[in-house]
Amino acid sequence: MTHHDQTFRLLIVGPPGAGKGTQAVGIAEAFGIPAISTGDIFRANIKNGTNLGIQVREIIESGNLVPDSLTNELVRDRLTEADAAAGFLLDGYPRTLEQVAFLTQLLAEQGTAIDAVIELKVDVDSVVERLRRRSLEQGRADDTEEAIRHRQNVYLQETAPLLETYAARGVLVSVNGFGTVEEVRNRIFAALEQRGLRHPLHRLSG
Ligand code: AP5
Repeated sequence: MTHHDQTFRLLIVGPPGAGKGTQAVGIAEAFGIPAISTGDIFRANIKNGTNLGIQVREIIESGNLVPDSLTNELVRDRLTEADAAAGFLLDGYPRTLEQVAFLTQLLAEQGTAIDAVIELKVDVDSVVERLRRRSLEQGRADDTEEAIRHRQNVYLQETAPLLETYAARGVLVSVNGFGTVEEVRNRIFAALEQRGLRHPLHRLSG
């Protein structure tokens, strides 16, 4: 729980390798909210051989998007869990305009809305190197050369247009995603603070 009454409903968006998952953990911890990654949830289901995992395995390995209906249902269930009541940081969702519409409606039914959308701005070609390195270290099934390229194209076609939608709503916070993990994190905290979104541990981040 946060230490005061303010709630934080945040999204983090950026192309594959932008550092969404890496940054999500530190931000969520500082704000006292859960980091919810749809990619992580899907991968856990694949690993555990659940029905959902069996349904999405090939889609994810090829770098395509899981159908909106499946993804929306999963997010709705996750956001109704108790730990998300005081806020959340969604990593990798929404990714299509249909998912944006679904999330907007879901939150509107609760009388809430997204407070800020953190865009990690990186040059797509430069971050490919990060993913190549990860594929050597951890072997994620969608980190093959072909799947990385495909994920980038899917991002540009399906997900990048969301940024305009959130910019029009006045909640887009764009941050330079290059530099060390700590540099990027501090930029994110500073940008959120400018919008009145100050995390309870702010004293610790200097
Ligand atoms: P998802 O898990 O969301 O993957 P992604 O968007 O391709 O992103 P990545 O995890 O590759 O990158 P990231 O930006 O999180 O960077 P990370 O911090 O890991 O989705 C996977 C798949 O699931 C999708 O393709 C789709 O099939 C499906 N899916 C998920 N959500 C969906 C949805 N809403 N709808 C439909 N389908 C969905 O960092 C990458 C690497 O770089 C790491 O090794 C890290 O250590 C390193 N790194 C991070 N920051 C830095 C830094 N500052 N400097 C140097 N290295 C860094």
